[in-house]
Amino acid sequence: MSTLRLAIVGAGPAGIYAADILLREARGFDVSIDLFEQLPAPYGLVRYGVAPDHPRIKGIINALRDVLDRGDIRIFGNVHFGSDITLADLKRHYNAVIFATGAIRDAELGLPGVELEGSYGAADFVSWFDGHPDVPRTWPLTAESVAVIGNGNVALDVSRILAKHAEDLLPTEIPDNVYQGLKASPVTDVHVFGRRGPAQVKFTPLELRELGEMRDVDMIVADEDFEYDEASKTAITTNKQIMVIDRVLQSWRKRPVGNASRRLHLHFYAKPTEFVGDEHGRVTAIRYERTKPDGQGGVVGTGEMREIAVQAVYRAVGYFGSPLADVPFDDRHGVIPNHEGQILDADNRQLPGMYATGWIKRGPVGLIGHTKSDAMETIQHLVTDQASWWSPEQPSPDAIPELLHERGVRFTDLDGWHNLDAHEIALGEPEGRARIKVVPREDMVAVSLGEETPATA
Ligand SMILES: Cc1cc2nc3c(=O)[nH]c(=O)nc-3n(C[C@H](O)[C@H](O)[C@H](O)COP(=O)(O)OP(=O)(O)OC[C@H]3O[C@@H](n4cnc5c(N)ncnc54)[C@H](O)[C@@H]3O)c2cc1C
Ligand SMILES: NC(=O)c1ccc[n+]([C@@H]2O[C@H](COP(=O)([O-])OP(=O)(O)OC[C@H]3O[C@@H](n4cnc5c(N)ncnc54)[C@H](OP(=O)(O)O)[C@@H]3O)[C@@H](O)[C@H]2O)c1
Repeated sequence: MSTLRLAIVGAGPAGIYAADILLREARGFDVSIDLFEQLPAPYGLVRYGVAPDHPRIKGIINALRDVLDRGDIRIFGNVHFGSDITLADLKRHYNAVIFATGAIRDAELGLPGVELEGSYGAADFVSWFDGHPDVPRTWPLTAESVAVIGNGNVALDVSRILAKHAEDLLPTEIPDNVYQGLKASPVTDVHVFGRRGPAQVKFTPLELRELGEMRDVDMIVADEDFEYDEASKTAITTNKQIMVIDRVLQSWRKRPVGNASRRLHLHFYAKPTEFVGDEHGRVTAIRYERTKPDGQGGVVGTGEMREIAVQAVYRAVGYFGSPLADVPFDDRHGVIPNHEGQILDADNRQLPGMYATGWIKRGPVGLIGHTKSDAMETIQHLVTDQASWWSPEQPSPDAIPELLHERGVRFTDLDGWHNLDAHEIALGEPEGRARIKVVPREDMVAVSLGEETPATA
């Protein structure tokens, strides 16, 4: 039987599903898989992106954990591809690699004033409220009025976390610093801007409906946003999701505005054009152009400019992938150029032994479940490409931990993750919380390695 020694970089859902599918589907191969993850914890955006008040989705971690707990995949946590381990190392030790490194940063929004103090990327804010170890521990929540740009699910997550009362987030796994930060927030108004209409939003009905269920938050929509054109009317009658979204919005339209202490305003046909600032370089308002439907699902500007006073703007206009050392990168789309997961060079030729899956393969759109079908496609090519795999000089499994030790990398493994997981759950238990995340990277590593538990952890 031939041997396939595979390295997977990234222990998010895409990397874990790829490992699982390969181990199930491989016929006639003796497969061994090493999973390299830059963080001391696995699960990627399921741990560090999915909102803490979505425990059902966070529960997908249970299925991913079952895959890791089977024991046939080795994890090397706290190992960064590009510095701790390189492409040359992987070629020396493996037959092939799959990159599943996802996306963690914000897509750029090139508007005047975007650099002002008080202008934030949604991805950074998400990383903060989900306790990512590589972002600052404090967040400047000082604004009473806030703008959120975008009509995707991330925009709704950000708006909900900003508008929700911190006490209602306490039973979740939010870290303590996040609870304290949100508790002190003086926010009263969150304004969400969609450049198109209610029939062209990217968010989903469940996530929209959830906004209306927040305690002590009034939902505000404007009658002028519901003068639908033919394309919108067709979308509402033919697309079930849009039909439900319209129904939810119409119900808020009819609801009398209450006297809640916080308000969430949904502005449609509102295309932000500028972040307005004061003489100290701080955001004071968002300027936008009123748009109107173009009859084909798009919009055109009307030339009518409006302004709303805000002290912070969150840009939730999509995520973007990051380049990896010695791996081709398409900077226009933020992905690794590939054909169905086979990585391509600058001349569109397949690079032997190199594959991609998940968000870094097809861009930052789609749900966790989509990474499974993605991984299936990549694995099918990997398996049939056997003739072009690398021939490693040092295929011994022991060589990798030795190499990492030699380089002084404090790597963690599956037992280490079990230690950290149990520690976080135990921290939350006395307070009736799902878990309390350990945030500083060094503390995560120390707990994983069974070293003395740091006071901050
Ligand atoms: C804010 C937010 C909320 C979301 N909520 C939901 C939801 O509720 N439901 C849903 O179905 N989907 C949700 N999604 C989408 C879902 O998170 C993605 O579909 C999925 O996580 C993509 O998986 P991935 O494995 O490709 O990438 P990721 O989950 O990003 O995993 C990539 C992994 O690679 C690691 N990595 C990156 N670079 C390196 C490197 N150089 N070396 C080593 N490791 C590296 C990262 O640390 C990470 O662990 C959400 C997305 C976002 C942004
Ligand atoms: N609960 C969940 O299931 C959940 C939670 C979070 C994320 N996710 C998933 O993760 C993926 C990424 O979500 P996302 O919200 O980051 O991306 P997204 O769904 O692509 O939404 C991006 C939004 O930004 C808007 N936008 C882009 N450029 C803009 C500009 N210059 N000016 C104004 N608006 C602009 C887009 O408007 P246009 O449509 O007009 O381009 C769109 O409304 C999605 O598949 C999402 O469903 C799921």
